[in-house]
Amino acid sequence: MEKVIIDGGSPLEGTVTISGMKNAAVAVLYATVLVDGVCVIENLPNISDVAISLEILKSVGAKVERIGETEVRIDATEARDKMPPHELAKKMRASYYLIGATLGRFGHSVIGYPGGCDFGVRPIDQHIKAFNALGADVCTEGGLIEATAQNGRLKGGNIFFDCVTVGGTMNAMLAAVLADGVTEIENAAREPHVVALANFLNFCGASVSGAGTDKIKIKGVEKLHGCTYELIPDMIEAGTFMIAAAATGGNLYIDNVIPKHMEAISVKLREMGVTIDEFDDGMRVYCEGPLCNVDIKTSPYPGFPTDMNPQVAVLMCLAEGKSTLTDTIWDNRFRYVEELKRMDAEIEVEGNTATFCGGTVFKPARVRAVDLRAGAAMIIAGLVAKGQTEVDDFFYVERGYDNIIEKLRAVGAHIMKIS
Ligand code: EPZ
Repeated sequence: MEKVIIDGGSPLEGTVTISGMKNAAVAVLYATVLVDGVCVIENLPNISDVAISLEILKSVGAKVERIGETEVRIDATEARDKMPPHELAKKMRASYYLIGATLGRFGHSVIGYPGGCDFGVRPIDQHIKAFNALGADVCTEGGLIEATAQNGRLKGGNIFFDCVTVGGTMNAMLAAVLADGVTEIENAAREPHVVALANFLNFCGASVSGAGTDKIKIKGVEKLHGCTYELIPDMIEAGTFMIAAAATGGNLYIDNVIPKHMEAISVKLREMGVTIDEFDDGMRVYCEGPLCNVDIKTSPYPGFPTDMNPQVAVLMCLAEGKSTLTDTIWDNRFRYVEELKRMDAEIEVEGNTATFCGGTVFKPARVRAVDLRAGAAMIIAGLVAKGQTEVDDFFYVERGYDNIIEKLRAVGAHIMKIS
């Protein structure tokens, strides 16, 4: 398996350019299955979740052509409601967007259960609730999810989610854009990638309004045409580099970000004593004094993102004084704590709250990435620890971070990947 070797202790200095957002990319790629035509997707991140998604699109009949380092041309005219190879679908969580898109266009979809990072139970009951509300029967037996529109085509309906779910909101949108009639989604997720998906669908001729609020209205149309669409930058990648700059005592200019998306992260980092200078599409991040302790609770956008949990934990280890981190989204997102403890961090986990003693002097060690964002956190801790740290199972990190090794080396990190 792949691992990275880090010779830590150097501050990161220079400019990092953020890539397209993973969680917008995967939703938009599967949304092209709805389109009876050609789509060109730009600013696509070079990550394994995108590569797998493109393979899945090919497996259901779409024509996929790379036309540049970050651009792909997808013609889904010949796509059909085939079941993709399960060994691909189970490699990632977002393969379940294929259900909403295929059900929406063909009135039927079947796929193996998705995979994805292990934070404990990752249910799809809200996705099923949405499909049922649009007139589909859903069967989840034998490790498969099969959805069938009762009359061959979905009908608009009202969906009120029991909890705020990004995936559920996006899957409901995908299913509703070609349904017969109007759909209203209440208690919808408000993340920037939900807005990005709505914008893509509207570029293709859909009629989606209210994305970014907790109520989304969709008027079904007969068909969607192709378009060219540029993905938004990845706010979690940006937040990860912000924390790497602060943790290593460096000074990074982070280019190609939307500061508005970063607000919840910036507020908390400033509380910890990090300086963040904001520009139209960039931020300069540095730390002039000691890091202060802080208390954070994750919550759906615009709150502090759960996907920044492991990364901010590294800062909490370094800060002076006790910090607490509560994850209200996932019930088991602290598996990385055992890895940080190998590097001399003092952390106690009680339920969905971790308490950090602070004042840690990270000791280099051999650790592993337990999931995508935890892997990024371990790399940050390795960049801080003076000496050689190894991070095993690096493949998790490559699922969601575009060329992270090259980006880190370009700003002074001594890091290399070995298989
Ligand atoms: C998306 O996962 C992201 N993944 C996750 O990012 C992110 O952690 C999560 O949203 C929350 O922001 C992608 O976009 C591919 P949810 P998703 O549905 O859609 C409960 C990363 O690091 N729930 O918003 O699977 C669920 O248990 C990844 O990039 C139900 O109860 O998350 C959780 O408590 C990791 N029933 C909460 O809702 C459902 O049917 C939020 O889950 C669906 C969700």
